[in-house]
Order: sequence, then structure tokens, then C-alpha cells
Amino acid sequence: MPAPFSQANPVKIAIVGAGAVSDYHHVPAIKLDPRAVLAGVCDASQELLDKRRKDWGCDNVTTDFERICADPGVDAVIIATPNFTHKAITLSAAKHGKHVMCEKPLGLDAGEVRAMYHACRDRKLVHMTAFTYRFAPSMRYLRHLCKSGALGALRHFRSQRFLDWPETSWGWRQYKKTAGAGDLFDMTIHRIDFAIDLLGPLKTLCGATARFIPRTKTTDGRDCPPSEVDDWSSLIGEFTSGATGVWEGTTLAKGYGLAGFGHEWAEINGSLQTGVYRLHMPNQIMLGKTGQDLAAVDVPAEFLKPAGSPRDPSTGEPATVFRYDLVWEFVSAICEGRDAVPSFFDGLRAQIVADSVLQSHQERRWVDIPDEPR
Ligand SMILES: NC(=O)c1ccc[n+]([C@@H]2O[C@H](COP(=O)([O-])OP(=O)(O)OC[C@H]3O[C@@H](n4cnc5c(N)ncnc54)[C@H](O)[C@@H]3O)[C@@H](O)[C@H]2O)c1
Repeated sequence: MPAPFSQANPVKIAIVGAGAVSDYHHVPAIKLDPRAVLAGVCDASQELLDKRRKDWGCDNVTTDFERICADPGVDAVIIATPNFTHKAITLSAAKHGKHVMCEKPLGLDAGEVRAMYHACRDRKLVHMTAFTYRFAPSMRYLRHLCKSGALGALRHFRSQRFLDWPETSWGWRQYKKTAGAGDLFDMTIHRIDFAIDLLGPLKTLCGATARFIPRTKTTDGRDCPPSEVDDWSSLIGEFTSGATGVWEGTTLAKGYGLAGFGHEWAEINGSLQTGVYRLHMPNQIMLGKTGQDLAAVDVPAEFLKPAGSPRDPSTGEPATVFRYDLVWEFVSAICEGRDAVPSFFDGLRAQIVADSVLQSHQERRWVDIPDEPR
């Protein structure tokens, strides 16, 4: 039996995909967690690896994901590569007995994601989907209010994610074979996930997507093939509980910069009161009962970070630092020998819904969501 993980025997984590999101929060989060150590870095770009070797202080670097997945000095991998590579890297990591946290969307479609989930589940590995916004303190507290009955019977869910992004190329994100879909898989899928977490499974939906601009210029002015994916995505749905949901997301909302974080608003109208989560104010929620106007309420201390985390919630940009809690959860699940939350099953459920949005739009009809066995 291998020794249990601890500060003296930390979980050795390799990053696969050393780009923006790994630098933004996965690597800082590993550095913050005394039970974890950065044990390897893989990226397709040797130039980026040379930079990360210095920036991140890790000498075990490679362009070959098979090599890092087979490395006996690695216990777990965090996959933060373009969407079309997630399946092959996950299957390699699972084959070598590594625990996996993978970025969303887990794959290009539910078929890929199911194979990833089954590979990790069947080998009893910890598997986690990087659904970041579940970790916002306001979302954690809103969840508590939903589950404890404080909002009453949950009737309506409503989500807006509006970004004011440049109209230039999205790189790999704008092609179906590398990304799967645009705003829907990049942004709205997070909101599908936390809605299911708050209100339970979706029963049926009607979805729509739209593309407005060609994105045929890169940020440095070069020509590139036009975008094939949506700039805007939306759905209305009915949960099995009888509640209703409305989601809208776009990257073309002029005037919604909000210091780079954009506008995010998600609310639940319960029979007793309404509760609201906002990304740019993650340490507050808004609450209101009949006869009142919605008013900001501070998130209580116990919801500002996970129990035991060394993170100081009073330091750093609030809309950034809660993202470090993903790695805390992944490492906690490995140390405690339990499932991570959100798991690949949650990633699969959200993927099935997102796929159904595309199907609904293509076929111009409501689509029922099939049950998925655990
Ligand atoms: N959870 C979130 O909030 C969040 C935020 C941003 C991005 N993401 C997700 O993270 C993933 C990566 O996004 P990003 O913005 O960091 O992208 P990015 O383009 O900045 O970085 C991706 C990196 O992967 C590398 N790469 C490509 N193919 C590879 C391979 N076969 N093996 C090893 N490395 C390879 C690239 O060289 C690049 O450095 C995407 O799935 C994206 O949807 C999630």
C-alpha cells in the first residue's frame, strides 16, 4: 500500500497544457497547497515550456503527454489543453493510474466524455471537472440557501453571462473540430452545471445559438479561416422538479467589461425569497423577500473558502482567488480517498445538456434530456 498523502508526502501533480488557465490559477493553487507539489509540466510548445520552467520552477518538462502520464514521479494530472485533446490525455492518464482534473468542456461531445468518465470511474481514480464558478463563495452560499430550504420551493433559475470581447480570432476556440462549440461550450456550460447542482436534473430544453462575426483576423493582424462556432448561446428548460430555467451568454455585449470579469448574474426565485449570485461581487449575494427590494448580504465566513484551506479570503482579487479552491478540492479528494466534486459525471451531465442545445437549434424543436446512469 502506498503511504497516504500528507505534507510530508505531497500529491505530485503534473500540468498538461501550460497556457492561460494553468498560469492564472492551477499553478498558483498548487503552490498554495502544502499537500501538493508541481512535479511535471507538459505542453506542445517547447518555447512555452522553456518559459514555464523558469516561471514555475519545474525542471521535469516535456512535449509528450504520454511520457508525463507514464511518469512514476507523478500521482495526478491537471489537463488544461484545447478541448479536442482532453479525451486522449485523460485515457492515457487513467491507463497509468493517475488521478485527473480536466478542464471544461471535458470533450467535444457526450460520447467522448462518457469514455473519459468510465475510464477513471472503473479504475477508481479521482476525477474532477474544472467547473470554476461552483467555487465562488456566493455560489457556495446560494447553494446552502437552496438546499436548506431558506429560499422556499425553487421555481425559476435565470443566468446571464455577458462579455465584451474583441472581434478578432479565438484561435483553436473558433473551430468545431478543436473546440466543439463556441460560447456554449466555453461559457454557458458552466452555468448549465451549476444550475443542475442547485436545482437537480433538467428534463427538457429548447436551445438556440448564433454567430455574428467571421473572426478572420488574428490579434496581431494575420488572416485566418473564419469562425465556425457560436458567439451567443441560450436555452430555456424545465427541471425534473418542475422548476424552469433561462440561460443567455454572449461575448459580444458592448459595455460589459467590468474590469475584465464581464457581467455574470444568476438568480433563483424561490417561494420565500430570491437569491442572486454575481461573479464580480463573489463575497456577497443579494437576497429579497416579498415587499423588499433585493439587497446585498455578506457571505458568512464559513462559505468564503473550503474548510482547512490555508487561503486567506481577505487577500487578492476576490473574483480570481476563489479559483484556487479547485485544486484544494482535487487534492482533498485524493488525500481523503473520496470522489471529487464536481466529478466527471457532472461534466458528462452538463455535456449532454449542451449537446442537446445544439441538437434543439439544428432541429428547431424541444429536446428531452436522457437519463445517464452513474
Ligand atoms: N474553468 C475555467 O474557468 C476555464 C478558463 C479558461 C480556460 N478553460 C479551459 O481550459 C482549457 C485550456 O484553455 P486555455 O485558455 O488555457 O488555452 P491556451 O490556448 O492558453 O493553452 C492551451 C495550451 O495547451 C497546449 N497544448 C495543445 N495541445 C497539446 C497537447 N497535445 N499536449 C500538451 N499541450 C498541448 C498549447 O500549446 C497551449 O499552451 C480549455 O479546455 C478551456 O476551455 C477553462
